[in-house]
Amino acid sequence: MALFSKKDSKICSTEFAVLPNHLGIIMDGNGRWAKNRGLPRTAGHKAGANVFRTISDECARLGIKYVTFYAFSTENWKRPQEEVDALMSLFMDYLLEAKADMTKAGTSKIKFIGERRGISKELLDLMDEAEQETASHTGTTVYLAINYGGRQEIVSAVNSLIAQGKTSVTEEDISANVYTVPDCDLIIRPSGEERLSNFLLWQAAYSEFWYSDVLWPDFKKDDLYSALREFEKRNRRFGG
Ligand code: FPP
Repeated sequence: MALFSKKDSKICSTEFAVLPNHLGIIMDGNGRWAKNRGLPRTAGHKAGANVFRTISDECARLGIKYVTFYAFSTENWKRPQEEVDALMSLFMDYLLEAKADMTKAGTSKIKFIGERRGISKELLDLMDEAEQETASHTGTTVYLAINYGGRQEIVSAVNSLIAQGKTSVTEEDISANVYTVPDCDLIIRPSGEERLSNFLLWQAAYSEFWYSDVLWPDFKKDDLYSALREFEKRNRRFGG
């Protein structure tokens, strides 16, 4: 990830009157992007990983505090083994590079959300190292959702509360036991699909949504800006 100067951050913080505190992004459309080019689906994921880097850098530059990228759902294990393996190896490659870049830059921190069971020890070790090495950074927190499902997250929070001896729970209890992600302000979903797909179910209670037909590998900084401009105009009432 790039290291951005204070000067750049200042310029960009004046670009938007309001920014989401927590932005969620569903990176969708890699497969179709590849198919349109006669390429294997894995080529779409690779192109998508590059866009992930560009957009997470841009979020950091803008000063968005939290951004969560949906990289692999609890349901994605059902995909062909070859595609699952390619995605896991992409996560490994990316993490090796990103860990070094982020550690050097000293700005963004990376955290992983999702179920650890099912992920290889090799990848888990790398995820742990990346979290530890960036834990003291004070810039944007980039959450990468791997083996993540919103329902699974809520069930796991409730089970933690039961293990803590609770016999009834409050909203605050659940909020404190989900994967420590704050409520989500804006969810971006490209690729023409308009659904949540088990993403941040608890945190999305009052999220704004922004959809676009662009496929994730074609998603540009301008698309992010369009979403943020639209978010600026939204009148959020939180049910009041
Ligand atoms: C959904 O598109 C995308 C995924 C299931 C994988 C998302 C992963 C990446 C963008 C790579 C991220 C990499 C790193 C290193 C974080 P799809 O495959 O369902 O596309 P389709 O709907 O067009 O078939």
